[in-house]
Amino acid sequence: MSRKTIATLMQMKMEGEKITMLTSYDASFTRVLEAAGVDSILVGDSLGMVVQGQESTLPVSVDEMVYHTRCVARGRHESLLIADMPFMSYGSAEQALSTASRLMKEGGAHMVKLEGGASQLETVRQLTMNGIPVCAHLGLQPQSVHKLGGYRVQGKDQESAREIKEDAMALEAAGAQMLVLECVPSVLAAEISRVLSIPVIGIGAGVDCDGQVLVVYDMLGITSGRKPRFVKDFMPGAGSVQAAVSAYVQAVKEKRFPTEEHSFQ
Ligand code: KIV
Repeated sequence: MSRKTIATLMQMKMEGEKITMLTSYDASFTRVLEAAGVDSILVGDSLGMVVQGQESTLPVSVDEMVYHTRCVARGRHESLLIADMPFMSYGSAEQALSTASRLMKEGGAHMVKLEGGASQLETVRQLTMNGIPVCAHLGLQPQSVHKLGGYRVQGKDQESAREIKEDAMALEAAGAQMLVLECVPSVLAAEISRVLSIPVIGIGAGVDCDGQVLVVYDMLGITSGRKPRFVKDFMPGAGSVQAAVSAYVQAVKEKRFPTEEHSFQ
């Protein structure tokens, strides 16, 4: 396996090869993910919920993100390493530059991810102008859970679907080099993946995105509480964590995951 860069992932989109992404929060899981050939690893602020046991991602601090990113970086060799900018750490372009530079310089991230559309365009511009690659995140934005009134599918009506599509195009124009689309109808995700030239990675966004991401604990069936529709547990029958991760990678590459059962209309 060779080193994955943003250019590699762009090439995969152009060639129609599905991109695999999983979250990781430590070196050991990262080694397992790498051995399975995962293309990209996301140090998600989901760590607030699955590692720290918090009710949402909101309490996660920049220090905690830097710490976990550094742990993951030590186990990483080939995959593209993306780190989430946590809640209220990118309220202004200046603050975003400071957070992103810590994630890259101290954590070893290759790219940072932030949630939001039109309100983040100037920040995305500033980050990319300073050589910081940005992955945008649209659809369900977990850092806005209280504003949204819960973890709900987004873009179900014409007006909100149009807004998400316009935000996606504006983010690409502002310099974003990747987009995560969470919990949106499959048809909308397919359309956005078609019109953007940057890779679109879906979670609860149907099979027609350029790639897929899941929280690693979810795909191993060890997340407590209600299982979201878009999650598939790859552990049954796999025999080992390594085999389950390999099964996920194969299923995404062969477009066997997600199915309708894991998607929204
Ligand atoms: O924090 C996270 O793990 C994420 C993914 C679920 C996309 O943002």
